[in-house]
Amino acid sequence: MNTPAPPWALLSELTHSCPLHCGYCSNPLELTRRSHELADEQWAAVFAQAAELGVLHTHLSGGEPLLRRDLEDITQAAVRVGLYTQLVTSGVGLTAKRLDALVDAGLHSVQLSVQHADPVTSDEIGGRRSFEAKRAAARLVRERGLPLGINVVLHRHNLDALDDLLRLAVAWEADRIELANTQFYGWGLLNRTALMPTRGQLARARTTIAHWHERADTALDITWVEPDYFTGTPKPCMGGWGAVSLTVTPDGTVLPCPAAASIPDLDAPNVRDHSLRWIWEDSPAFTRYRGTEWMPTPCRTCDRKTEDFGGCRCQAFALTGDAARTDPACSLSPDHTALVALTHVSDPPAIVPRRPGAARQTHTARSHQL
Ligand code: SF4
Ligand code: FES
Repeated sequence: MNTPAPPWALLSELTHSCPLHCGYCSNPLELTRRSHELADEQWAAVFAQAAELGVLHTHLSGGEPLLRRDLEDITQAAVRVGLYTQLVTSGVGLTAKRLDALVDAGLHSVQLSVQHADPVTSDEIGGRRSFEAKRAAARLVRERGLPLGINVVLHRHNLDALDDLLRLAVAWEADRIELANTQFYGWGLLNRTALMPTRGQLARARTTIAHWHERADTALDITWVEPDYFTGTPKPCMGGWGAVSLTVTPDGTVLPCPAAASIPDLDAPNVRDHSLRWIWEDSPAFTRYRGTEWMPTPCRTCDRKTEDFGGCRCQAFALTGDAARTDPACSLSPDHTALVALTHVSDPPAIVPRRPGAARQTHTARSHQL
């Protein structure tokens, strides 16, 4: 097999621990314990190998990366080898002192998650008081002169507040806002019925986005990602399997995408056992769905196979139990009709908040297949 082009992005999941309890969380049902997390010197080795491989930037993410008391050392290690660093945070715990230390370590930018524009509803969705901490964090980031991004996971319970969320981003002086509808993986898959938007909500949201894109009085950079359950067009997930980025999870497992831990027979490699170069270029986990050779029909003969790469492997597995099937989000997939049926939710249940250990109670991901 030819040597693949180098990756340019690294998602560094420093910890699964998190002060929030969002029901849409896409992290796995079983989270990595703190005692199994990579140490800061192991992260430094990961960054050095990543930079040598061609990676240009890393998201320092989680969970909540601020819960790592050595986050400053980890940041400094990434900066030292030339990586652009972006902290992805809930804002809880981002004090002036902490941010100053991170700036001293070389941090380049901050991405802040927001659950809703209304403080009370935001705190309800996040499962704890956090909105004021987010507001304060945004102010600190701007005062330090760092680029500020806001990300919002959209769903039935905040989609109607889209206009207010965009106004909030302007008021908080964000440079950009990422508005992505919920991806149903991990814990979020358990709450799929509760989170599923309506077609009416999505139609109104498209109008709002079009209006904001026409506005000349704001420099806010808006990224809007449609939910592929509704479009009939699968997303080119991660730019293709093993094509542009890799994810290192808190215990050092390396994945082609954050949700790939859900594919049980993937045999994901770990940085404790293998070099990042071998993992990227040769490991069975990264080569399995790379390119087009693995594709089933109808992808195999489809004109779009080099545009969407057959859609999302994790979604295909979550919905059909087979990661090698065409993504059911595609209108050409034999599973698409069953997927569309899932979008008609007239009486949604309440969202189940993310709680440690609750995964073992009643739900399994398998029960969510088509
Ligand atoms: Fe994409 Fe496969 Fe659907 Fe074609 S058939 S649009 S390649 S998912
Ligand atoms: Fe894993 Fe799409 S989320 S391939």
